[in-house]
Amino acid sequence: MNEIVITGDGSHTIFHCSLNEHYHSTFGAITESKHVFIRNGLHCVSKDPVTIFEVGFGSGLNAYLAFLDARQHKRSVTYYTIEKYPLDFNVVQQLNYPSLLSAEESNKLLFYTLHETGWEKPIAVTSFFRLYKIKADLISFDPFFYFDVVFYDAFAPDKQPEMWTVEIFRRLYNRLNPGGILTTYCVKGEVKRNLKEAGFGIKKIPGPPGKREMLKAIKLPSASNMR
Ligand SMILES: C[S@@+](CC[C@H](N)C(=O)[O-])C[C@H]1O[C@@H](n2cnc3c(N)ncnc32)[C@H](O)[C@@H]1O
Repeated sequence: MNEIVITGDGSHTIFHCSLNEHYHSTFGAITESKHVFIRNGLHCVSKDPVTIFEVGFGSGLNAYLAFLDARQHKRSVTYYTIEKYPLDFNVVQQLNYPSLLSAEESNKLLFYTLHETGWEKPIAVTSFFRLYKIKADLISFDPFFYFDVVFYDAFAPDKQPEMWTVEIFRRLYNRLNPGGILTTYCVKGEVKRNLKEAGFGIKKIPGPPGKREMLKAIKLPSASNMR
């Protein structure tokens, strides 16, 4: 059972009733996603074209922000995303992201396109944004592609500890291009230790409103590519 709730910046998030967990920060869903994944993820890698891998497609907010950012900066993005429990389209239709994030009707509609496109195949959403949605369980997923940025947006480790293991981080590390980064809102000690054990260098940076810190994990030894 899911419920849509309003967060501090007026944007929606989803409350997952059985996990007792929100999809985003209740201080502001759009504010958090922009801060953690766009400003401190996508904008920290200068490659063009750039490839992103997102853990947890969920509401599609991160994918939509990446799409809008790619359009604004005329940058070519390939966006892989994995999701085990896709949302019902009637929930997606109630989310206020298109109206808050885009003035142009065609860009608003693209939010729904991201959800409606099929799984397990590359889709050219526009000439600069390619989407590849994978309906699978991250726990047993071995990426078959390489990427530059990971948007690590799993539910928190106290709700889903199995999503934050060394084994998973190692698989991602192996497919991350040199100079690549993994960004996440979570700064829990065990997560930091597991990332380090998988090979990442860790940097704590200021978090979005309501959170003092967030994590940027860097693929060593090529951290010199970081901006
Ligand atoms: C914190 S939510 C964030 C979702 C999304 N990034 C957003 O902005 O709405 C975590 C997402 O991970 C998904 N998820 C949970 N367990 C998973 C698993 N084992 N494999 C893949 N996705 C999973 C959930 O269904 C949910 O959509």
